[in-house]
Amino acid sequence: MVSAPEPPPEVRRGLAGVVADTTAVSEQDGPAARLTYRGYPVQDLARTCGYEEVAHLLLVGELPGTADLHAFRRRERALRPLPAGARAALDAMPRDAHPLDVLRTVRSAAGARGAGDPRAAPAAAEGAESDAALALVARTPVVVAACARRLAGREPLDPDPDRPLADDLLRMCRGTPAHPDEVRALEMSLILYAELGFNASTFTARTVVSTGADLTAAVVAALAALGGPLHGGANEEVWRTMRAIGDPAGADAWLRAEVDAGRRAIGFGHRVFRREDPRAAPMREALAALAARCGDDGARALAMHDALVASMARAKGIPPNVDLAAGPAYALLGMPTALFSALFAVGRTAGWCAHALEQRAHNRIVHPLAAYVGPPPREVPR
Ligand code: CMC
Repeated sequence: MVSAPEPPPEVRRGLAGVVADTTAVSEQDGPAARLTYRGYPVQDLARTCGYEEVAHLLLVGELPGTADLHAFRRRERALRPLPAGARAALDAMPRDAHPLDVLRTVRSAAGARGAGDPRAAPAAAEGAESDAALALVARTPVVVAACARRLAGREPLDPDPDRPLADDLLRMCRGTPAHPDEVRALEMSLILYAELGFNASTFTARTVVSTGADLTAAVVAALAALGGPLHGGANEEVWRTMRAIGDPAGADAWLRAEVDAGRRAIGFGHRVFRREDPRAAPMREALAALAARCGDDGARALAMHDALVASMARAKGIPPNVDLAAGPAYALLGMPTALFSALFAVGRTAGWCAHALEQRAHNRIVHPLAAYVGPPPREVPR
């Protein structure tokens, strides 16, 4: 009997709809517009928790009790000061370099292994890697704040071990302590950015770890993947776009022109959350809270956000993603636009590390297939 020919393999470009592995870190349910971190709705975490509690949830697996939180905070704060290697790498970077590039380079330089170092044995690596993960969470804000200072022509400030992470991040960026409402808005954004399943940067981190490479290599690669405007760079592009439009009254015409030209309006759409990005509403709340403190600038930023949302709903029915509110919120916090994607990285570092540790614990090297479309086999001409 002649068997039927094999059907051609189905190609899912961008791995859309492909289930690549299991994870216990977070669940993304697109149709239900639900994002949970280890079972807890992201909106509830953003509205009620501190960033350190959420980092503990992601890295350790549970929200901390009071004693655990104190111990976790103590460890995190003790790890903040940058080691000499990181400081030297920071000093070597041009002052006007993009903060995400600085962060990636400093992380890579500071994490360089000696050429003769044996890799840690997997059994010994677990404890060492969770310390390394917490060090990444603790030091990323210090490097990002140093970038803000250097962009402004000022010297970086040392971290203050008496302040929570978000509070200290704002203080180190601006040079003066921030108002609690500002800290809360920034903290909400960091929590909303902290984790999102197998998004491009996290999947990159998991792919790197799957080869047996270390946590530093995974986070450096994740930082590289984050930078594009379709991913972490979107919050910067959102604010540049809003500034270019200028007046909220021009939002509708701008958006219609984008859609009519077949371009993608930045700050809208999501691979998984087609109906609604569950992070968008709490991020708009944070934006509104900041706007209320910022007079005309605040009112204009919020009105611009809302006008774009209304216009896109009419034009294409595509909902906003978290970045549409995060961009103007960071601007109202006085952050330079070039810093926005690095602020995203501050939040996402806990998620990257949680996934890297999970991949390490249940590893199989990532190596999908490709459907070949090149020339058929042929002889090398001689
Ligand atoms: N503006 C206009 N149309 C859009 C947009 C948009 N922002 N996003 C999607 N569409 C359209 C797209 O053109 C397509 O229409 P059609 O079927 O007529 O060709 C349809 O919606 C489906 O889009 P898709 O190509 O399947 O989308 P994707 O899953 O490949 O891409 C995305 C997802 C986030 C890259 C995309 O929505 C986009 O480019 N958005 C703008 C960039 C942005 O804001 N990125 C931040 C995402 S949230 C942060 C993160 O998770 O990293």
